[in-house]
Amino acid sequence: MKKISSGKVRDIYEVDDSNLVIVTTDRISSFDVVLNSLIPQKGVALNLLSNFWFDFTKDIVPNHIVGTSLDSMPSYFSKDPDIYKNRTVLVKKLNMLPYEFIVRGYMFGSMWKAYKSGESFCDASKKYVLAEKLKHPIITPSIKNHEGHDEYVPIEYLYSELGKEKTDKISEVCLSLYERCYEYAIKRGVIIADTKFEFGLDFNNNLVLGDEIFTPDSSRFWDASVYSIGKSPKSYDKQFVRDWLVSNNLDGVIPAPSLPENIVNATAKIYQECVNKIIG
Ligand SMILES: Nc1ncnc2c1ncn2[C@@H]1O[C@H](COP(=O)(O)OP(=O)(O)O)[C@@H](O)[C@H]1O
Ligand SMILES: [Mg+2]
Repeated sequence: MKKISSGKVRDIYEVDDSNLVIVTTDRISSFDVVLNSLIPQKGVALNLLSNFWFDFTKDIVPNHIVGTSLDSMPSYFSKDPDIYKNRTVLVKKLNMLPYEFIVRGYMFGSMWKAYKSGESFCDASKKYVLAEKLKHPIITPSIKNHEGHDEYVPIEYLYSELGKEKTDKISEVCLSLYERCYEYAIKRGVIIADTKFEFGLDFNNNLVLGDEIFTPDSSRFWDASVYSIGKSPKSYDKQFVRDWLVSNNLDGVIPAPSLPENIVNATAKIYQECVNKIIG
């Protein structure tokens, strides 16, 4: 089987002209560096969550999923269930748009930084504090940049690149996806603070949702039971690893550091807890 690329977390194989297989590994990246430690079952957690959400939203927009069980895949994968089960999907090969569509429902992360420095990302007529819910969710698109950090672009840039009709369609889809899944997750005690989508075009130029959706790697998930504004909420993602790296002056360091066993185990537990809350 031909592996065509190895992303930070996923390995991609080409099945034929129209299909790919994506394997979600247990790799973890932080500050754009893939760390020298695996988080046991992280890939399974991400894949099961993403598959759940793709199914849950398939009436909003077509997605790239063709099959999620090993039976639907080439024997290269189905003959090795110990390696590939629950972390492998057969997908439609898409011509990916070189953008990330980030939907934000809360004042946090890079938006908080920008807001503090006086840039108006959102409705500037209102004063916000850290982690406060926005009046309305907003979309902050960025250009995918393989060398490092993705770069924010205004929506007008997308109008000129993709056309107004396609851009508006994507924006509408992004907000519908966010609202639907936000409502579901909040009932289960999880706040989806923000999330990222990637779209592509299929052979017929139809817009298709690709990549992963609503995973802890592509979103900020907060524990609703302890959430309060003004402080950094407890999150079901890599925040724990990021904090450890920062406090040890190892953020963004190359060669990538290894994580101590207690951090690996605690992180694995967070991913598992997230699956239990959302799908369990
Ligand atoms: N259906 C698809 N067709 C083609 N490429 C895809 C599809 N879904 C996701 N991708 C791409 O596959 C890669 C997924 O691997 P990942 O480890 O997440 O990479 P990255 O380091 O770029 O985040 C991403 O570059 C994503 O754009
Ligand atoms: Mg990715």
